Amino acid sequence: MIRLKVNGVEHSFDGDSEMPLLWYVRDKLGLTGTKFGCGEALCGACTVHQNGKAVRSCVLPMSAVQGAEIVTIEGLGKNGLHPVQKAWIRFNVPQCGYCQAGQIMQAVELLNSKAAPTDEDIERAMAGNICRCGTYQRIRAAIKAAARESA
Ligand code: FES
Ligand code: FES
Repeated sequence: MIRLKVNGVEHSFDGDSEMPLLWYVRDKLGLTGTKFGCGEALCGACTVHQNGKAVRSCVLPMSAVQGAEIVTIEGLGKNGLHPVQKAWIRFNVPQCGYCQAGQIMQAVELLNSKAAPTDEDIERAMAGNICRCGTYQRIRAAIKAAARESA
């Protein structure tokens, strides 16, 4: 039996322990904000937090989240929008929106570890999150604004 917390709620799972966490949050818990892109840890669309760290849920088996605290995009804004989400809205970051939950989760991890990231920090931290619509300039601007506001 695998026990974990998702967005602050305790869950237990006794299915296939090799099933990716992404299927669990989307299909079992109905948390469809986290997206499937590549399925190979190459695009970042499926990014969630595991114990505060950004992880690719498409390649993370349920066996690896025993006792973990998972936060998805739904949990991030549970008690009011996170400063990163507010900045995303203000800068109209999304185009199609498909990659954006992953982008936001990655950006939140960055700001949690570095309150005032440089352009290089942002580039490095966000390099694995692909946006087919090319919203990278707005993503960078929104991260900087969120950093300023949280300072
Ligand atoms: S769907 Fe997980 S990294 Fe692309
Ligand atoms: S907004 Fe369309 S893929 Fe990023």
